[in-house]
Order: sequence, then structure tokens, then C-alpha cells
Amino acid sequence: MGDTPREILVTSALPYANGPIHLGHLVEYIQTDIWVRFQRLSGHTCYYVCADDTHGTPIMLKAEAEGVSPECLIERMHAEHLRDFTGFHIRFDNYYSTNSPETRSLAEAMFHRLREQNLIDVRSVEQLYDPVRAMFLPDRFIKGECPRCHAKDQYGDACEACGATYLPTELIGPYSALSGAVPVRKRSEHYFFRLSACTEFLAEWTRAGHLDPQAANKLDEWLKAGLSDWDISRDAPYFGFEIPGAPGKYFYVWLDAPIGYMASFQNLCEREGIDFDRFWTQGAKTELYHFIGKDILYFHALFWPALLHHSGYRTPDRVLAHGFLTVNGEKMSKSRGTFITAQSYLKHLDPEYLRYYYAAKLGATMEDVDLSFEDFVARVNADLVGKYINIASRSAGFITRHFDGHVRAVTELEPWRAFDVEGYSDRIAAAYESREFGKGLRMAMELADRINQYFDAEQPWRLAKGIEDPATRETLHQVCSVCLRGFQYLSLWLKPVLPSLALRVEAFLSCGELSFARDLPPLGRIKPYEHLLTRIEPKRIAALVMENTLAPIPTRSDGAAPVEVAPIAQPISIEPISIEEFAKVDLRIARIVRAEHVEGADKLLKLTLDIGCGERTVFAGIKSAYAPEALAGRLTVMVANLAPRKMRFGVSEGMVLAAGPGGKELFLLSPDSGAEPGMRVK
Ligand code: MSP
Ligand code: ZN
Repeated sequence: MGDTPREILVTSALPYANGPIHLGHLVEYIQTDIWVRFQRLSGHTCYYVCADDTHGTPIMLKAEAEGVSPECLIERMHAEHLRDFTGFHIRFDNYYSTNSPETRSLAEAMFHRLREQNLIDVRSVEQLYDPVRAMFLPDRFIKGECPRCHAKDQYGDACEACGATYLPTELIGPYSALSGAVPVRKRSEHYFFRLSACTEFLAEWTRAGHLDPQAANKLDEWLKAGLSDWDISRDAPYFGFEIPGAPGKYFYVWLDAPIGYMASFQNLCEREGIDFDRFWTQGAKTELYHFIGKDILYFHALFWPALLHHSGYRTPDRVLAHGFLTVNGEKMSKSRGTFITAQSYLKHLDPEYLRYYYAAKLGATMEDVDLSFEDFVARVNADLVGKYINIASRSAGFITRHFDGHVRAVTELEPWRAFDVEGYSDRIAAAYESREFGKGLRMAMELADRINQYFDAEQPWRLAKGIEDPATRETLHQVCSVCLRGFQYLSLWLKPVLPSLALRVEAFLSCGELSFARDLPPLGRIKPYEHLLTRIEPKRIAALVMENTLAPIPTRSDGAAPVEVAPIAQPISIEPISIEEFAKVDLRIARIVRAEHVEGADKLLKLTLDIGCGERTVFAGIKSAYAPEALAGRLTVMVANLAPRKMRFGVSEGMVLAAGPGGKELFLLSPDSGAEPGMRVK
């Protein structure tokens, strides 16, 4: 390994610009980042690019619901995503946006080439159209009764009750989730990429070693079932790129999303003078790797290679699909507090704990990865603190105290040879290369165990007592030197996973940069040991889960407080409820007796409300819109029978009603004059 320098371009899937980065996403970005760091530490040139996936209907609607332009929304999300990735030490060479001139011009050029090759068809398609919103409805925005089991309020593509899949036009009693209107059928012209004509090429590509066996099997299934042509256009209104020569028609988001990989790289090339063509022309000698989740395999292993091949570009060397994150054995869930955002995690815990835990659980398969909190705490504490760091903290003191920090050369020493550290190094490097991180780390921990056993057996604390004897002194020096040399190797092996800890270790060992590309320099004089890593305290996990359970409404993407109003950060969906259901909500006129700042909360005000029959305390996320002085005495509307909830600052006994996107734009409801505290709102 490391003999011939390679040139590799690596991507992770582009996260959608309509939601925060969460622990599920991080499985992918951490996995990719570790692999990239390993390649660089092995002396290869490895570029890692990514971008926000910014186009499509959900983003357009979300921006609309927040009352901002899509450009404004995606700019904010871009900054948030990059902040989150950086927080987890995920280091891109470029983090760009699909809403870029590079993406547009590449998409247009590729579309032209496909057209020249007769791979684009124009066909008339009948779809459901919302006459109130004047737009075609994506399947997810149509609801109705399942044609098979008659479950009500099912989405337009599949039934959650019986699992049937169908066309939205087959729903019984369909309605628009945006306006509630009955959709009408309407025809329009669509552009299709003739994927069916690429079957032969794809069948060959699938078998040529670009995929792990599990993924290749999946593809075989799809190929056997027959490939359908792919609708790559959408009608206005749509946030995306208009198709040249087709006014009112836009490229479907999934057409320009993977092109975003190229665009991000092109943008990097322009900035840093890298030759774009070396990486993208057919027959290129450089390598191209896409890391993705198993849910988007179809796009990356069928559409994408076909698109590239037929528009004259090289295809990926490897498409590497990983599984999904489960938390405590189940899908992430907001109600269980296990839908955890990157931001929320970082408030409570060191990112390197999660990097280590994911790495320890990752292999080269599409198996799901489970984050079990109990296991997480046990594993990180046992491996990183109990085994790895322990070696340094136990040996370094003797070296500093008795040998002025000087570590002896150990290469020729018998106990050192028996460890066969070079053998471990090769096997661990091979494990990284093949994305078997779990295997690699198990090997590393095996050596850590052996070194700790060696330390225990030699009992340096007893040797230190007999230090006046030159032979004993010599043995003590050897034992601690062997342990620290072992620690140095372990630090190299862990470096792709724990880059920030590795920096602290390099400073402590004064050994220069640890690298897989050259022999580790012998240790000379180390610095006195200082604390390198602390154990995870289980109460930190409890606080994390608590925070995510208590958030009454998922934190808005702009970081504003969980606001005690219905979130309109989602498409305005109108779903009928019965009068009985509505009657359960006890809405009362309330007088704000007092409004106070809450110590330590930058979004909340503490309201004391008079509702005729007594006083209630409500914590409301309205501080950015209202000064407390402006509220005292005024009337508003509160939900009086909401079960009390314990929040960080106290118990909230209901909520007040307000409208608006949040932040400064928040409008507390108030009744006309004449209303009295305690009156029921009906
Ligand atoms: N925008 C598309 C990708 C376009 S790539 C040209 C998309 N975005 S996503 O935000 O939904 O997901 C981004 C990546 O994170 C995907 O590879 C997806 O599989 C991965 N994950 C999202 N949720 C995940 C889990 N819960 N667990 C593991 N990976 C997950 O798809
Ligand atoms: Zn059904």
C-alpha cells in the first residue's frame, strides 16, 4: 500500500436543503470522511466534494411557507449544514450547491448530448393537478383512500396500512395535501430519458465490480424486472433549472443532483487549478468513488452511470452503499427523543465519540447500523479510554519522572517483536481500504489489550520502587518505551477516525505527523502527559435524549426556538378532523398577568396567564418578537387543557397561540374588545 500514489475523487450524497443534518446522515459523512482521511494519510491525492441538494417541490414549498425566497432558504441551510459537518470534523475540499452556474451548464450540456443520441423522448403525460394552487402535484402531495384496502388518507404513491403501491390517479377520493382541493387530471408534455435503451450497457456495468455483492444483486433484480424510461422534467412552478428551449419545463431535481458532484468538483478545480478533465473524461486514469445510502442506489447505479456514459463522461469506479441508522434498534423517532440533530448532539457530546462508534460498527455492507446508547457509552469508554488512552496515561508518568521524558528505541527488543506491530499495520490499512472499519478497529483494540496485559505483567509501579538497581531501571525504561511505541502505532491507526485527538497525541509525543505513507519515526522526548480524553458520562446521553423529547416541535431549520405555535415550516397541509376531535381542545381567553425573561433561555418568555379560574404558567418561544413589557395586561388565546410538560426551565402548563414563520415575524392572537379571561373560544 502507498507505493503508487493514486488520484481519487470521492463524494457523499448531497443532503437536501430542507432539513437539518441528523445522526442518520452522519453515518454516511463520517464513513466517507474516514475513508478519505485514510487515503490522504496513505500518501494519495484524494479530493472530497459535496454540496447541498437544493431543487425540487418540497424546498420550494418550504420556502413559501416560511415566507422567504428559495434562494434565501437554501443559503441559510447551506451555512447550517456546513457548520454541522465541520463540527463533526468532516472536511470537504468543497461544499457547494446544486443551484450553481456549473451545475446548470453541465446539466444543459449533458441533456444536449443525450438528445443528439436520440435518448430523449417527449411524451404527453396525464397527472393530477391542484386547481387551487395551479400546480401539478407530486405523489407525496396527493392523499386519498387506498384502492386496495380502503385505508383513508394515504399518500399518492403507497399505502402505509397495507403496503400497496399504486399510481396517484388510482386513489379513491383524492385531495391535494396543499389546498385540500380535489385534483383534476391534466395533460402536459414531459421529457424522458430512455433508460430502457441503456439496459445492455447497465447489465455489463453492474457485473464489472463497481458494486458490493449485495448491491449488485439488487441491481440484477431491477434489470430483470425491466427498466422504465425516466421522466426528467417537471412543470412550473418549480425551483430548479428551466430546460433550454422548453419554457415552463424544469429539470427534475434528481437529474441535476448527481451532476452537482461534478459541479462542486469543477468549482474546486477552478479555484485551485486542478484539471477537471483528468477526472471526468472517458478512460480517465483517476478514480471516482460515490458513497451513498441504500435508499438511493437506483439513482446512482442505474440513472447516473447511464447518464454519464451516454453523455461522454467516465463512470464511477465504485458506488458504495451503506445501510440506515436505527437508534436503540428502532427507526429514529421524534416522540422517543431519538431523532437527534447534529447540532443537538454537539451541545452535549464530543463528536469523536460518535465517529468512533460508527466506525466500530461499519463494514462494507448495506446492513443497518444500530446506535444503542448503552452500547455506545460502554464501547467508547472501554475501548478509547479503558484500552487506548490508558496505555499512555499509565506509561508516560514513569518516563517523565525517571527518564526526563526520553523514550528508548524498541525495535530490537524481544517483547516488541512479539507484538508484530507491522503485521497489524498492514492488516488494519487493508481493512480501511476495503471500508471494513469495524474489523480494523477490532484489530487495533486487540493489540491495545495485549499491550495493557504486558504492562500489567511487568508491573512497572513495582520496578519503579527498585529504581536504584541499574538493571531494574533498564527494565522499567524498556517496558514503558514499548508501551508508548505501541500507543504511537495505535494513534496512527485511529487517526482517520479521531483526527482531533490525533493532533493532541502528536503534540504529546512530539513525533511529527503520524502517517501510513512512511515508517513511524522513533519516539524521542515526549511531553508530560496531560489529559487526552474523558469518559462519556451516561447523564450526558440522558440530557441529549431529554432535550430531543421535550422539544415540543422539532427545532426550526433557522435555529429559532421551538415555538409554541403550529409549525408552518412544512407545506400547508389541510387534513380534515371531526368536530369531536376539535371539541377536545379547550381554548380560553387569557390575560397576560406577567411576562418575564427566562434565565439562560434566549428564545423563551415565561408568561403568567389569568384564565378566569386561576393562573397558569406557559413558556412561549416568542422572545424574538415581543419585549416582556409590551405583553403585560394584554389578552390572548391559550390552549388550556394541554398536558403540562416539563421543560428545562420549569413546567409549561399550556400554550398560547401565535401565527407567522417565527423569529421577529410572530403574531400573538388576541380577541376583540369585550372578551374576558376564562371565556371559551369556540
Ligand atoms: N438529496 C438526496 C441525495 C442526492 S445525491 C446526488 C438525498 N438526500 S438526503 O438528505 O435524504 O440523504 C443524504 C444521504 O444521507 C443519503 O445517502 C441517505 O441515504 C443518507 N441518509 C439519510 N438518512 C439516513 C439514515 N437515517 N441512516 C443512514 N443514512 C441516511 O437522498
Ligand atoms: Zn392499503
